[in-house]
Amino acid sequence: MCGIVAYIGDLDPKEVLIEGLKRLEYRGYDSAGVAVHDGDSVAVYKMAGRIADLERRLSQVKLGGSLGIGHTRWATHGEPNDINAHPHPDYHNKVFVVHNGIIENYLAIKKELEKRGVRFRSETDTEVISNLIALNYTGDLTEAVIRAAELMEGTFGIAVIHKDEPKKLVLARRGSPLIVGIKDGCFFGTSDVAAILPHTRDVIYLEDNDIATLTPDGYKIISRGAKTVTRLLQRIEWSLEDAQLNGYPHYMLKEIYEQPEAIFNAMRGRIDIMEGVPKLGGIVPVWEELKNCKSIILLGCGTSFYAALAGKYIFESLTNLDVDAELASEFRYRRMSFLPNTFVVALSQSGETADTLAAMREAKRKGARLLGIVNVVASSIAREAGAGIYNHAGPEIGVASTKIYTSQLVILTLLALLLGRHQTLSLTDGVRILRELETLPSKAREVLKKADLIETIAQRYHRYNNWLFLGRKYNYPTALEGALKLKEVSYIHAEGYAAGEMKHGPIALINPEMPTVAIITRDEIYEKMINNIQEVKSRRGPVIAVCNEGDEKVKEMVDEVIEVPETLPFLSPILNVIPLQLLAYHCARFLGRDIDKPRNLAKSVTVE
Ligand code: AGP
Ligand code: GLU
Repeated sequence: MCGIVAYIGDLDPKEVLIEGLKRLEYRGYDSAGVAVHDGDSVAVYKMAGRIADLERRLSQVKLGGSLGIGHTRWATHGEPNDINAHPHPDYHNKVFVVHNGIIENYLAIKKELEKRGVRFRSETDTEVISNLIALNYTGDLTEAVIRAAELMEGTFGIAVIHKDEPKKLVLARRGSPLIVGIKDGCFFGTSDVAAILPHTRDVIYLEDNDIATLTPDGYKIISRGAKTVTRLLQRIEWSLEDAQLNGYPHYMLKEIYEQPEAIFNAMRGRIDIMEGVPKLGGIVPVWEELKNCKSIILLGCGTSFYAALAGKYIFESLTNLDVDAELASEFRYRRMSFLPNTFVVALSQSGETADTLAAMREAKRKGARLLGIVNVVASSIAREAGAGIYNHAGPEIGVASTKIYTSQLVILTLLALLLGRHQTLSLTDGVRILRELETLPSKAREVLKKADLIETIAQRYHRYNNWLFLGRKYNYPTALEGALKLKEVSYIHAEGYAAGEMKHGPIALINPEMPTVAIITRDEIYEKMINNIQEVKSRRGPVIAVCNEGDEKVKEMVDEVIEVPETLPFLSPILNVIPLQLLAYHCARFLGRDIDKPRNLAKSVTVE
């Protein structure tokens, strides 16, 4: 969510900012704005709503200069409206700030500043930043930002300009991503590299407490204690096309179809079939401790949490470890006490989810070791973990997570298998599981061939307002994820339930107006699921079943059948979730929803 683009150089800043902001739209936002310095004064344009509106407005004005900052906001303090949109000037219109994150002590600062005569215009926490910087300004913007940053608590990525310094852009970060882009005397600041890729691939990821000063002559980064620091200049390898639609009507659909490849990429170069073990380079630094660990806690939010929950079943199948899955947003407030040598494994697509990051930090403080399973390279969670496994699934742009879920399950299987092979799993078991994993990309392709059937089912059922998703054991998380997908993109109310729990409550809801999606796989709880489907049918509830190919028994009982190939039971969630993603997608499409940017949602939730 929320994005920053900032620029200093010879190109037209207005163009660079608007183009950059458009590339950040996919992250989700509620308002947008820019401030451009024309050499004499600073003009601010900002408004609630879409960037296209801002662009239209800007097309009517002429803005020169070589310096500017832009923002897409996802409100945390104050409703999304024109005034609360960023950039925020200080009281005297000298300092202009765009900000991602939350200033936790903003009320205390605000009171203090009000006593000193400052009048606030917005309800945001951000406005205290520009005023704090202005009050600390004695002729050098960098110095003022350093002093202000010392007084701020919370998280921020900020880009700042000053009316009296038309050739200086200052960036500062603490807990919120910020990147410097470099190209022949032009400098960019952004919270997401996608915004600047058309201009440059050479970037520096700022670290917490870094303050970067960019001028037409160069850049300087200082960290705590105001000493100059050197940060690695990195080259971004992925192309902008990777982040584009590639002929699909929506990113969500494109990403659903990318799953065979994403599943393959998750295991590419990571399989030693002769030894029956995965090879995971990213965990080598911690391997000695990891191989002796007794307990693992899998952490995540939303879809990443459901992957963690599915991971618990995978670990239970393959290892003797004590494994738990926890919601990061709850775990961080728990009284944590860890067995010696416990590993906390954080799962995150974006690598920027604030709750997950905070839970990791808390766990580390209490003595746990960290690992990350992350898609975005060099993201905050990846760096905080220090060791881990990347998904290598390419950018996921649709707000609803799809390909990362299946990719996460593959990686969890590799990790569990590696640990299991150091415990009791035999070579034969290792080889068998790896061979089965290798078949999953083509089995996922088989599932995708059911798209037309799923579209027809969606056409029949998208008008039902309440849905139930049922699964057991390995596919209990699949039911939760299927319901989440439907809710997110179609706004249909859906509940995911462990099928055995249905008789303890939700069965009261069953009637002909409430479809149930039942995930039933030929495994040890198959017969129990049959009973649960029976319970729904006898109350005249329509049932859509996701079952294995050729399951005549299920076919006879239910209203709609989506068949998927058979695999090992603990791998079945990887295939079973795909029809549920397609079902959610097509229901949303029939209902005319904004599929890639569902209302109220953001792609990466960088506030707690
Ligand atoms: C998934 O469809 C969601 N939009 C959301 O639940 C997401 O999975 C969650 O916010 C975690 O994100 P992360 O994987 O980037 O940490
Ligand atoms: N806390 C700030 C606000 O509410 C920034 C939100 C964001 O990160 O976009 O305006």
